[in-house]
Amino acid sequence: MKLASIKKHFIQLELSEEEEKIFLLIADCADELKVKAFLVGGYIRDQLLRRSSKDIDVAVVGSGINLAEIVAEKIHPQPAVAIYKNFGTALLKHKDFEIEFVGTRKESYQKDSRHPIIEDGTLVDDLMRRDFTINALAISLNEEDGGALYDLFGGMEDIKKKIIRTPRDPDITFSDDPLRMMRAIRFASQLNFRIDIETFKSIAKNKERIGIISQERISEELNKILLSEKPSIGFDLLFKCGLLQIIFPELQRLYGVEQVDGKGHKDNFYHTLQVVDNIAERSDDLWLRWAALLHDIAKPDTKRFEKGHGWTFHGHEAVGARKAETIFRKFRLPLNEKMKFVCKMVLLHLRPISLSKEEVTDSAMRRLLFDAGDDLDALLKLCESDITSKNEHKVKHYLRNFELVREKLMEVEEKDKIRHWQPPITGDMIIKIFNRPPGKEIGIIKDAVREAILDGKISNSFEEAYNFMLERAKEMGWVPVIEK
Ligand code: CTP
Repeated sequence: MKLASIKKHFIQLELSEEEEKIFLLIADCADELKVKAFLVGGYIRDQLLRRSSKDIDVAVVGSGINLAEIVAEKIHPQPAVAIYKNFGTALLKHKDFEIEFVGTRKESYQKDSRHPIIEDGTLVDDLMRRDFTINALAISLNEEDGGALYDLFGGMEDIKKKIIRTPRDPDITFSDDPLRMMRAIRFASQLNFRIDIETFKSIAKNKERIGIISQERISEELNKILLSEKPSIGFDLLFKCGLLQIIFPELQRLYGVEQVDGKGHKDNFYHTLQVVDNIAERSDDLWLRWAALLHDIAKPDTKRFEKGHGWTFHGHEAVGARKAETIFRKFRLPLNEKMKFVCKMVLLHLRPISLSKEEVTDSAMRRLLFDAGDDLDALLKLCESDITSKNEHKVKHYLRNFELVREKLMEVEEKDKIRHWQPPITGDMIIKIFNRPPGKEIGIIKDAVREAILDGKISNSFEEAYNFMLERAKEMGWVPVIEK
């Protein structure tokens, strides 16, 4: 295919002043170097979809590194250019923009590797090797035909029709780089696009190839699916093409309804997806969205049918919190406070709901305020999202009830200031007062004091807490060595 024969459109992009300046500069430099330069890839897609993007890819028929260096020289103050000789790429950071310059290339893959053999190629070769038609558009930057959009594979039409489709035979595109199967689903979820039927069939056919992709890259795509406006689109597609069973069997296990004595439980997979969509409407926080995805993860492990009672999932929140940690390890997600937060959300996710069902005491409210601490708002959002039913009236009714719980919690908090409260007696104090080494017993006394205050048995004063501690210690035969 000759460049001249490619379908060309002249399009109007909505560029900021800064973008216009940068592109004119690149065009001047490319003309000076007598090389052809094109905007390519995701930047054009996002421009056409009016999504803002600060990552700009420039493909150069020639050396991307040379062009980047000359462009950098003409910017004041001169930005640093990071050069990756092995990849033949150069990265220039200017203001908010990251501009990557790369020579147009041709790639050929071997069966057992996702590392291609790379050679210099034409613009056509370069566009041909790309994953989806919507990512295979190029816009000329040279003065000669600046602004011309080169569309080899009908990418413009696919953007209009909202379709994800591979430019070549999808079996080749996915076999070359199986991560693209995840990318197809991620783009469908992020952009609310459909996946072309042949492309989707090919994902189902090639799904096992995902095995050669590193866990980190898979998790990165899962995170992007979770961060999309309606994450259920992505997870449902993962399920339907069979990738979910390979990469996330723990989630797939939630699928299905078992019947005993004519009684079924709800399908926990689709319930979970609904909860994730609900939380996405309330929060952009990735980790709260992970908590929503994992909140019922242990339901299959704890499921029982109790005669006369029906289906129960006793303890699924505690088992689920442990499972969430295992999943974080497997997915190589951060094992820091983010993971602790997700485990805490899974562990506590039933607590606020239970407060809406019974005649609730202040002490139950205080206990939840104490246990949730700073994460109370997140927990309440998760619980609201967990209210799902086909019957909209029911959902509205439960949400109204839940609003009362929220109000009551705020009232108790206003009164008792429990969220940032620390019990007046610490472990260190107990060690010193009784001259005992740190150990289990210290914890028992400390917790007993805290519980007595939360239960309202004693007031939240140092005096009463101190006396309570003495009594509790006396039961264990301990005598204070320091007077108050
Ligand atoms: N690309 C590809 N196959 C991949 C990854 C990328 O063909 N596995 C191509 C696509 O043309 C893509 C471009 O390289 O548009 C740039 O890749 P990248 O920056 O990873 O993706 P974007 O499309 O820009 O989207 P995002 O930043 O959301 O990942």
